[in-house]
Amino acid sequence: MSKIALKGSAMLNPVPAVLITSRKDGFVNVFTAAWVGTICTKPPMVSVSIRPERLSYEMIKSTGQFTINLPGSKLVRALDFCGVRSGRDVDKIEKFNLTLEDGIQIDAPSIAECPVALECSVTEILPLGSHHMFIAEVVQVKVEETLVDGNGRIRFDKADLVCYSHGEYFPLKNVPLGKFGYSVQKKKSKGRIK
Ligand SMILES: Cc1cc2nc3c(=O)[nH]c(=O)nc-3n(C[C@H](O)[C@H](O)[C@H](O)COP(=O)(O)O)c2cc1C
Repeated sequence: MSKIALKGSAMLNPVPAVLITSRKDGFVNVFTAAWVGTICTKPPMVSVSIRPERLSYEMIKSTGQFTINLPGSKLVRALDFCGVRSGRDVDKIEKFNLTLEDGIQIDAPSIAECPVALECSVTEILPLGSHHMFIAEVVQVKVEETLVDGNGRIRFDKADLVCYSHGEYFPLKNVPLGKFGYSVQKKKSKGRIK
C-alpha cells in the first residue's frame, strides 16, 4: 500500500460517541463527547477530554462527577444536537424529552433511553492544550436488563450502539469478526472415528 503523508492530527478513527450527563445546583446538562477512552482495568478508569469553554467543563470540574451514557442509533439526532448546542442556551434534556434516572453512587443522573451508563468520579484533570483530560474512576455501571443474558453476559452486540468516524455517525454491525484471543485458540479436536 502506498500512503500519503499528512501533518499530525487527532486522526484516531473510529471512536465512541457518548452522551455525558452532569448535575450542578439542581440543573442537569448533557453534552456529546468523542474524545473518550478506557485507560485502566483495575481500578476501572476512563478519560474524557473536554474544552474549557464548555458548560459541561465548568459543571464537571466543580462537582467531580459525570455519567457516560452509551446511546443507541435511535438517539443519534439527539447525540448530534447535544454536540452542537450548549446547555447555556437550551435545556437539552427537555428538548429531547430524555428521562433521567438518579445516580447510584454519584449525584449525576443517567439517561434512561441509553442502554448502558457508567457513573464516573474524577480523580485528576490534565490540561493538555485545546482540551483538558478528565481522568475518572468508573464507580458504577448500569445496564439495561434485557441486554444481560442467562449467563450474566452483557450482550453489547444487541445494544444497537453507534460510533463516530471522521465527522460521521455509524451503526455497529452486530456480526462479530472474531472474539478475544481467537487468533491463538486451538481448534477443538473432533475425535477420531476408528
Ligand atoms: C460527535 C461530537 C463529538 C464531540 N466530542 C467532544 C469532546 O470529546 N470534547 C469536547 O469538549 N467537546 C466535544 N464536542 C462538542 C461539544 O459536545 C459541544 O461543544 C457541546 O455543545 C457542549 O455542550 P455544553 O456547553 O452544554 O457542555 C463534540 C461534538 C460532537 C458533535
